[in-house]
Amino acid sequence: MSAGVAAMAPVPVPPFDSVPFLDLGTTTAVVATEVRVGWEKVIASNRFVGGEQVKAFEDEWADYCGTEYAMGVGNGTDALVLALRALELGAGDEIIVPANTFVATIEAIVLVGAIPRFVDVDLHTGLMGAAEVEAAVSDRTRAIVAVHLFGQLTDMDALGRCATQHGLVLIEDAAQAHGATWRGIRAGGFGAVGCFSFYPGKNLGAFGDAGAVVTSDEGIAERIRSMRDHGRPGGSEDRHYDHVRIGTNSRLDTVQAVTLSAKLPHLDQWNEDRRRLVRLYAAALPPTVVPLGQLEECAGAHHLMVVRVPQRDRVRAELAALGIGSGIHYPTPCHQLEPYQQWSPGVLPNVERLAGQILSLPLYPSLPDADVMRVCEALGHITADLESLDDQPGD
Ligand SMILES: Cc1ncc(COP(=O)(O)O)c(C=O)c1O
Repeated sequence: MSAGVAAMAPVPVPPFDSVPFLDLGTTTAVVATEVRVGWEKVIASNRFVGGEQVKAFEDEWADYCGTEYAMGVGNGTDALVLALRALELGAGDEIIVPANTFVATIEAIVLVGAIPRFVDVDLHTGLMGAAEVEAAVSDRTRAIVAVHLFGQLTDMDALGRCATQHGLVLIEDAAQAHGATWRGIRAGGFGAVGCFSFYPGKNLGAFGDAGAVVTSDEGIAERIRSMRDHGRPGGSEDRHYDHVRIGTNSRLDTVQAVTLSAKLPHLDQWNEDRRRLVRLYAAALPPTVVPLGQLEECAGAHHLMVVRVPQRDRVRAELAALGIGSGIHYPTPCHQLEPYQQWSPGVLPNVERLAGQILSLPLYPSLPDADVMRVCEALGHITADLESLDDQPGD
């Protein structure tokens, strides 16, 4: 050892066989060659925005979702904003939304000038159903945003009936639910519009940011196509500087469309892999660790494997010490986030209780079975001395 360099303590490393929360390597590898070939073609064409690849993916995605139209946009947040604007929702309109969602759902509502009407969810599924919506409808309510959180759908029959009965527009935030079904109908196919994110970690993920809106309404489709492209009328190159409405720039990059088209044929198998892993978890988890429930008619896309566990923060820290990754989706309900507290309706007991209990365990299509068993075993040890959740107030 050279003079002046003190002997250092060994750097602590996670155990050799650590379990990452998410590993995109395998799904990327499956499509890498095809994507490279497709990107080479884009580079050779020098056409990087729009083009036949975007149109091709839009057609494939609409077909997959069972809708007439799909419009590629820049990301999932823009998908929501453009959808709300295309539906002419804005100032003074109340939009019912679950408080436990990724903040983008709420951002979109507020960005168009509407009012988020935060509601509670079912404690066992974590989803907002028709009962929660019914309790929140007022004279000013114009729309419902159903968030298919974690890749699960609520009772869409009941929610659809509730929307019709009150004359409300149903919007789906399907950013976590690519390919999830309710009675065989895919997410995105229920509402006036379905909004998707293709952020890399999603079940169908681009190699960067991307999103889409699906609809079967020609007028909505037309408005979104125009608004995502600076309000151009569309259809004609010589109207490039004709702007017929206030738009924005939120187009799907050509290279991302190529990536998404390469991945889409694998989506159903990847979702099936997730479902199998979730069943494996369910069979091996200790009784103190309770997976969120799903309704029988729903075939979930299982974007996340969410469980409820007592002393969640302690459990999470102990998993981390063993090299096991986990997440919390989401630690603070949206009505309690500082910028959105002004619209808080007060206490939402189930959302708030879930925020303190939920833990997302490792899940991705190529997660080895042995890793699932390792996580379950670790949870068995960590929670052995903990009392089960009893769903009583204060639990
Ligand atoms: C439920 C939900 N809505 C909206 C979004 C926003 O999508 P993006 O990150 O592509 O803007 C996400 C992304 O994480 C999401 O999970």
